[in-house]
Amino acid sequence: MEKIANLKDIKRGGSLYFNYKGQRAILVRTKKGDLVAYVAVCPHQRASILWDNQINKLICECHLSLFNVEDGSVYKHSSLFELKQGLTKIELKVDDNKDIYAV
Ligand code: FES
Repeated sequence: MEKIANLKDIKRGGSLYFNYKGQRAILVRTKKGDLVAYVAVCPHQRASILWDNQINKLICECHLSLFNVEDGSVYKHSSLFELKQGLTKIELKVDDNKDIYAV
């Protein structure tokens, strides 16, 4: 397990990037307080993934595909291509000290 951060480092609606096994990854704390993490690489053409708290979705910076924060599935993609594969989810654990780990 690799420590990502402590819960106090990420406020509700916030996100932060971390390194997961050599890949850029993103940790999101939703407005509801749920913690989720994904490999921050788009399955279409490997562009970076950003978090948009306003619309509560993860977004690809290249072609603006949207992904559901709850499970990383595709919410919307461009009409120019079909994208069925969602983001790769990273399992998390939070210990008694509120330290957050990627499993
Ligand atoms: S690279 Fe993300 S939708 Fe194309």
